[in-house]
Amino acid sequence: MTDQTPALRLEGIVKTFPGVRALDGVSFSVMPGEVHALMGENGAGKSTLMKVLGGIHQPDEGRIIVNEVPVVMSGPLEAKAKGIVFIHQELSLAEELTVAENIYLGELPRKRFGLVDWHKLDAMTNVILKKLKVGFDAKTRVGDLSIANQQMVEIARALTVDAKAVIFDEPTASLTDAEKSVLFDVIADLQKAGVGIIYISHRMEEIFKITDRISVLRDGQYRGTLDTAETSEEEVTQLMIGRTLDLSRSASRHELGDVALEVRGLCCKPLFEDISFEVRAGEVLGFYGLVGAGRTEIAETLFGLRDPSAGQILLGGEEVRIQSPADAIARGISLVPEDRKGQGLILGMNCRDNMTLPQVDDLTAGPFVAEGSEVAIFDQYRDKLDIRTPGWKQLVGNLSGGNQQKIVIGKWLSMHPQVLIVDEPTRGIDVGSKSEIHNLIRDLAAQGYAVLVISSEMPEVLHVSDRIVAMYSGRIMRTFTAGEVTEDNLIQAISGIGGATAA
Ligand SMILES: Nc1ncnc2c1ncn2[C@@H]1O[C@H](COP(=O)(O)OP(=O)(O)OP(=O)(O)O)[C@@H](O)[C@H]1O
Ligand SMILES: [Mg+2]
Repeated sequence: MTDQTPALRLEGIVKTFPGVRALDGVSFSVMPGEVHALMGENGAGKSTLMKVLGGIHQPDEGRIIVNEVPVVMSGPLEAKAKGIVFIHQELSLAEELTVAENIYLGELPRKRFGLVDWHKLDAMTNVILKKLKVGFDAKTRVGDLSIANQQMVEIARALTVDAKAVIFDEPTASLTDAEKSVLFDVIADLQKAGVGIIYISHRMEEIFKITDRISVLRDGQYRGTLDTAETSEEEVTQLMIGRTLDLSRSASRHELGDVALEVRGLCCKPLFEDISFEVRAGEVLGFYGLVGAGRTEIAETLFGLRDPSAGQILLGGEEVRIQSPADAIARGISLVPEDRKGQGLILGMNCRDNMTLPQVDDLTAGPFVAEGSEVAIFDQYRDKLDIRTPGWKQLVGNLSGGNQQKIVIGKWLSMHPQVLIVDEPTRGIDVGSKSEIHNLIRDLAAQGYAVLVISSEMPEVLHVSDRIVAMYSGRIMRTFTAGEVTEDNLIQAISGIGGATAA
């Protein structure tokens, strides 16, 4: 690769925000036809570096060099004109517009007299959608799509440009395995066409599967570049967080208390049916299955967001009907939702208020008014979860993606629930913080909380759970104890191989 010219190069980039030196002299380059991973802890500066490259932020110092020519990126349009395309971590689509309008926004095909050529627009769009094997068409309103499908629209938009470099900022966070493999095919095609790819992700598996080189940032500083084929997860982790992690199964098991939550024959057709399980105080019950297996919907039902059509929910041995989230919270159930943006956070509000915001309007009194001042609560969870922010006054929208997720977790923990449900707790979270969150889940159980963990990551459920419920297509296929579960029998159970067996 050394005889080639980089597709683009960043040199000595410095970017400061009030109170934060987000980038401290970072250099980075990507070759044509290379997939180059950019890794680092939450808040390390990855997205900021890409925003500098995309003209969204102007650097305080440093140069951007495209084809050996220094350029000033005045804004996203200029970056695009230079063939630099982004798939952002936070979606940036217009929900009211159709898929086609979003993809060709600003460049809609015109007929005579400047009228939009709708026919051509739809045809052009459908060609790209077909390539991506998605199940929606050009006329679908973006707001009606799932987060994963919106992500696919972002990807489609990138494919319309004659790109020199494409930047993927955590593109797989909300994709299913099938969508992921389509994405990896798209990346391979771009690579063959000589496009330089910058790939940001916290998922080591993916990084080792699709990238050629890995560059690491730490606290805004460049730490080095490794050849993927010649390095290991341990080495990358060491470079990212300055230590290696012990990822073995947590050994500290403790006595379990009484059954905190029991569910009998719970149904909400067609989402799930005949769901029965119990979880004791001090126990972590994992829910594993493919996206769409019904796990999130069960959580939502327990949290009063859906009405079950049949079945019973018992808390501390007593049957309850949970009418609303306020009701769930009053009964000691908290839910850390899957989609932090839609359900968890107000981006234009500061960190403290997001964390201590009463969850529901009428929840201003009762057992969940936290002790101490709100700032003290914020400080407590900032330390516990290692949230990186200059202070509580920072707007949540200015935090890095992973740190936003930590604010959501802190918010629900600060309500001291008896039953805590966490749905994909470490999505978008770096390896170091991930293991901290896993330890935190185990600690909460040790303190007597009953914890339900929904996760699509097998190592995660295996690591934190005392027992694991394997789901397939709205049904429980099997419940495993930590002692009997293996990767193989878990995969079998969630693929629907073999019939359902009693828990
Ligand atoms: N607009 C902004 N105003 C103030 N601070 C910001 C702004 N954007 C980013 N920061 C800060 O800059 C630092 C780097 O953030 P960045 O989003 O680049 O991290 P990241 O490496 O992408 O993390 P993650 O893995 O969580 O996405 C963080 O401390 C963040 O809070
Ligand atoms: Mg980021």
